[in-house]
Amino acid sequence: MPCAVVVGAQWGDEAKGKIVDLLAQNADVVVRYNGGPNAGHSVVFNGQTFAQHIIPSGIFNPNTLCIVADGVVLDLEDLAKEMHSLTSRGVSLGNLRISPNAHLILPYHKLLDRLEEERRGRGRIGTTGRGVGPAYADKASRCGLRVGDLLDERRFRASLRQVMELKNLILTRVYGAEPLDPEKIADECFRYAQGILPYVADTTALLRKALLENRKVVFEGAQGTMLDIDYGTYPYVTSSHPVAAGACLGTGVGPREIDLILGVAKAYTTRVGEGAFPTELKDERGDQIRERGHEYGTTTGRPRRCGWLDTVALRYAATVNSLDCIALMCLDVLSGMPEVQICTAYKTKNCETKEFPADRSLLAEAKPVYETLPGWQEDISSATSISELPQNAQNYVARVSELVGVPVEVVSVGPDRRQTIIKDDGAVARFMK
Ligand code: IMP
Repeated sequence: MPCAVVVGAQWGDEAKGKIVDLLAQNADVVVRYNGGPNAGHSVVFNGQTFAQHIIPSGIFNPNTLCIVADGVVLDLEDLAKEMHSLTSRGVSLGNLRISPNAHLILPYHKLLDRLEEERRGRGRIGTTGRGVGPAYADKASRCGLRVGDLLDERRFRASLRQVMELKNLILTRVYGAEPLDPEKIADECFRYAQGILPYVADTTALLRKALLENRKVVFEGAQGTMLDIDYGTYPYVTSSHPVAAGACLGTGVGPREIDLILGVAKAYTTRVGEGAFPTELKDERGDQIRERGHEYGTTTGRPRRCGWLDTVALRYAATVNSLDCIALMCLDVLSGMPEVQICTAYKTKNCETKEFPADRSLLAEAKPVYETLPGWQEDISSATSISELPQNAQNYVARVSELVGVPVEVVSVGPDRRQTIIKDDGAVARFMK
């Protein structure tokens, strides 16, 4: 079983980084397939904390090839900083490869992202402001510039000049902003490109070779299913495909190559930015989850909205991604609650449904139908097997699995790699052997 996709099953921030880090320990290749610097997680390696936005955490293992694939959007300055933060602390980048097809986030993307959010006012999406949406928009409009374009400086400068004619018209005439100078932007790009271009390689070919050699490959999705541009809660979504199918679209690997699809979900739900969130808790229970779970964005520092686990959304994620199993994260955060609630259905004006509404306006008015389970008071952070968990915590895990219709094979009880329970006889354990 050599090929696994790790996909966020909620609204992002499911602690996918920890699962990827775990699987990466004995993976030959780790591939990031979507998103850009809007994503982020901290990795602790040799006692040092690294903030990773783009480079897969497999980078800490010199035997793991780390690929930033075609479906990713890159901000050269951010990437250069991330690379420097690694090399300056002794981490080698010798195993990093970047696709020439990855699109560039340029300064006008970041500026337009912020100006457009300001213009939307109360209707804002709550983006991370990293220029991700405008960069993907240019990719779809076929006026984006890609990493590979940096290989020919004269052509790159000419293309940038041409693209920026329109960008500057938009900046000045629509938003009343100052125009940007294409030559300055190009100079900056080439300053950063010097350190990045040596890592550019045909990543699709590298992956094809790895698969032919039966190497173990882990695909790492950024964000989560409910933020997918097509399958998320549009328009309050990101602009890429975090879903498992995105692993194929973003890398050039065919769907038949994927053997294991692992959905990562927290034992509760969080969301950053605007948009519907039926199980949101706007009271002290939500605050308790936020504080206990340190639910503040890694990229923006924004407090995350917190609420109970939503199995209507999770069942939808299970279907959209063909999940084989679930990694249930941050179970320890729920310890100490007198009771825990699980959303099993939504009530709308006219009906009660267990299906995630196709009509997104229904989602905005959906009220959660809860099942209440007794909580557990014990500290579970040193449990090493499901049977070591208090009975009420075991019941919670079993009920999640039953309601979603997918086995929970991994349970995380703390941030450390060792605080992870992996079912012995499951697909994840087999993948890790
Ligand atoms: P964008 O990706 O910056 O355009 O933001 C669009 C939406 O996706 C906003 O609601 C963001 O808060 C959300 N978002 C983007 N990246 C992440 C992430 O890594 N975790 C959680 N939410 C995210």
